[in-house]
Amino acid sequence: MRIDALTIFPEYLEPLGAAILGRAQSKGLLEVGVHDLRNWTHDVHRSVDDTPFGGGPGMVMLPSVWWAGLSEVLELPASPQTSVVPAPSDDVGRRPLLVVPTPAGRPFTQQLAEEFATRSHLVFACGRYEGIDQRVFDATADYVDVVEVSLGDYVLIGGEVAVLAISEAVVRLIPGVLGNQRSHEEDSFSDGLLEGPSYTRPEVWEGIAVPEVLKSGNHARIDRWRRDQSLLRTAERRPGLLVDAELDKADVEVLRSGGFGQLADDLAH
Ligand code: 6GU
Repeated sequence: MRIDALTIFPEYLEPLGAAILGRAQSKGLLEVGVHDLRNWTHDVHRSVDDTPFGGGPGMVMLPSVWWAGLSEVLELPASPQTSVVPAPSDDVGRRPLLVVPTPAGRPFTQQLAEEFATRSHLVFACGRYEGIDQRVFDATADYVDVVEVSLGDYVLIGGEVAVLAISEAVVRLIPGVLGNQRSHEEDSFSDGLLEGPSYTRPEVWEGIAVPEVLKSGNHARIDRWRRDQSLLRTAERRPGLLVDAELDKADVEVLRSGGFGQLADDLAH
């Protein structure tokens, strides 16, 4: 996979070269390019934004500068619509995906991470201020897939943190990036439930013991206990997730005896 990111704060994306993402690059599983958007400005002030048409607060990022940068990174014509627009490749995996982080985007989920992980080229466009002139995305959508994504229901200053979060969620799904491939099949969300608690040595720490069942050696009991912990934690913190999870009668009874009677009734129907 190749990841490119365009930003006015390239130093903010230095962590893309660290830790597991750095190792994925040394292993040849990932290439990363971070590009300073101001490289594509031509005026002395290296301006990237201007006031919004229609008025209002903040600034909007210039379409000319963004097209110059994106067309270079995505290998598009120097101006949009000057040549015949190519039919999109029917191999979705080989088509670049332009990812635009914005609080107005689709929620970024594990399911989207899995879709992104099948792509060979992700390009992130990090906006600041009040966003990027919409015509840039209307024009790029003729050539590549474009998706606006949000990390959650809160507002960040810019898209850079989202690039780090999304890249990490996606790259760890590429075969060979994590040492232990099982560890992501058992993650929170892979089965629609939150992960329960984990414990390691010592058996008693500061007077607090590890749950007895985990030391029983009885793997059927341990699996059942872990499932119960996941169910109860999900009911408490993210009850909405249970609607789409695959639950059997035993699971519903665990919720009922755990004090989630109403939820159990709703799920039983
Ligand atoms: Cl992806 N970008 C910005 N600027 N703010 C956000 C966000 C993204 N997700 C939640 N808030």
